[in-house]
Amino acid sequence: MLTLENVTAGYGGGDVLQGVDLTCAPGTVTCIVGPNGAGKSTVLKVISGLLRCRTGSVSLGETRLDGLDPSRVLALGITQVPQSQALFPGMTVRENVQLGGYLIRRDRKLLAARYAAVCERIPLVASRAGDHAGNLSGGQRRMVEIARCLMLEPKLLLLDEPSLGLDPQSLAGVAGLIRSLNEGGTTMLLVEQNVRLGLGLATHGVVMEGGRVRLTGTAAAVRDNPEMAALYLGGTSAKETQRG
Ligand SMILES: Nc1ncnc2c1ncn2[C@@H]1O[C@H](COP(=O)(O)OP(=O)(O)OP(=O)(O)O)[C@@H](O)[C@H]1O
Ligand SMILES: [Mg+2]
Repeated sequence: MLTLENVTAGYGGGDVLQGVDLTCAPGTVTCIVGPNGAGKSTVLKVISGLLRCRTGSVSLGETRLDGLDPSRVLALGITQVPQSQALFPGMTVRENVQLGGYLIRRDRKLLAARYAAVCERIPLVASRAGDHAGNLSGGQRRMVEIARCLMLEPKLLLLDEPSLGLDPQSLAGVAGLIRSLNEGGTTMLLVEQNVRLGLGLATHGVVMEGGRVRLTGTAAAVRDNPEMAALYLGGTSAKETQRG
């Protein structure tokens, strides 16, 4: 169980996160939604250790994560697909995925077994193994980014805006992968601008605004809460509206 209690954090003078409480139970998919600048990505950065929290705590089970370096958080089983592109375009798909196994690189057998398991789960990795990542489409790159995270068989997978910039077909592929990972027992915390998609994939929803959690509940309860209409006029997210 991941637990954030009363977390405050920021980048400069003021606090971006202003007392965030959040939990993710094993086997669940939690989706954080909220307007631009609400602090969604900042929550993920605090969990993965990229940003220190100023007050409050972050724990995985009995283990405190706040104050740990990102490499320690990774070693404890939390891995993140970041919001911006994260693959090395000049390296092959295989090399990019195997980088995800950096922590287990000395155990060649384990590395090979994990890579084979990832190829089985995401056949694209096997079929494009020798191609440069830079030659993949946006949707294919997203799959490979997720594949890389799976090399560590994470206890918790953090996904920041997995649908960002994808065409409908790629989106369906990535959504299908997230669903199948959850069916396989992977616990996920995702941030999604596409509210309908995100809450459709999730078991639990969290609505953030202005660095605070405004609503939490089952994904269905959050989706149907009348307050959502106030945040997302007409049931369509502000960003979706902007993008037309
Ligand atoms: N590296 C940074 N340095 C300074 N301020 C930052 C930095 N990253 C984010 N912020 C600020 O923190 C606030 C929250 O940003 P965050 O990226 O967490 O929002 P978000 O909810 O993920 O938004 P988006 O939907 O646009 O991705 C914003 O006001 C943003 O400008
Ligand atoms: Mg963000």
